[in-house]
Amino acid sequence: MKENVIFCYSGTGNCLDMAKNIAKSLGNTDIIMMRKYPAITDVREAKRVGFIFPCYGGGLPGHVERYLHDIKVSPDSYTFAIQQCSAYAGEGLYKLNELIPLDYWKKVTHQCTAIWLFPHTMMMPPMGAEAAQARSEHFAEKIANEVKAEIKTKRKPSKAVANKVEHAKWTEMARSIGMTLKANDNCVMCGQCAKLCPTGNIRYQGKAVIFGDKCISCCGCVNYCPQEAINFGKITEKRERYHNVNVTVDELTQDIISFE
Ligand SMILES: Cc1cc2nc3c(=O)[nH]c(=O)nc-3n(C[C@H](O)[C@H](O)[C@H](O)COP(=O)(O)O)c2cc1C
Repeated sequence: MKENVIFCYSGTGNCLDMAKNIAKSLGNTDIIMMRKYPAITDVREAKRVGFIFPCYGGGLPGHVERYLHDIKVSPDSYTFAIQQCSAYAGEGLYKLNELIPLDYWKKVTHQCTAIWLFPHTMMMPPMGAEAAQARSEHFAEKIANEVKAEIKTKRKPSKAVANKVEHAKWTEMARSIGMTLKANDNCVMCGQCAKLCPTGNIRYQGKAVIFGDKCISCCGCVNYCPQEAINFGKITEKRERYHNVNVTVDELTQDIISFE
């Protein structure tokens, strides 16, 4: 195991891009992906342990919370977490801090990837993809330097009570929005959506793409489809796609990405 470990969940690349930038700057780092059950959960040998994940509906995405319960971190390790969101951080950092006490944490806003809800430019402060990416890279460098110096955040993440109520309804809302997913005639059956789906919710039957009832609304299939053939009902038909410019489907589907 490398000296530093970063656990990362990312639906459309923003969080993985930040994890990669921080890992490059720290060196000697393994990024352990959390889109499915993490390949390694016992990281008690690591000097620094980080967590980078987006806010989904005011809280942690998909199964991340369940996976976090299994992660073993040494009380002597330095711990840090970055919550990405388009506007507000929600209760994710609070929940994480309850399980794994955090020495350092930050919220960073980036493009909104909930394509069925808002166009991607709907972030705080509002800006286009290029400016948001430059801003994210600036933050990644600053955060990496602070993590290297093992700086500690004085206050604890907030309990975000209103977001707790929002997030309680989230799983069902994501599942029912996912039931509206359809591929249109532009689909060339390339297989990318099925490969990318973190819950195995997409399968092919003859010439049809079948979406099941296990969607967590990561929006990866819609945003990464090379033909822009997948939509949530009619809502997204005319909406511009977005995924992080520096992150590929192949990277998102790795178990571990290592940096020397
Ligand atoms: C399903 C879904 C729900 C989201 N919910 C919130 C939210 O409650 N608050 C917020 O500020 N951003 C929300 N976002 C925006 C993401 O947190 C943000 O775009 C993040 O950068 C995405 O990271 P990723 O590309 O690594 O998946 C949501 C995005 C998605 C796809």
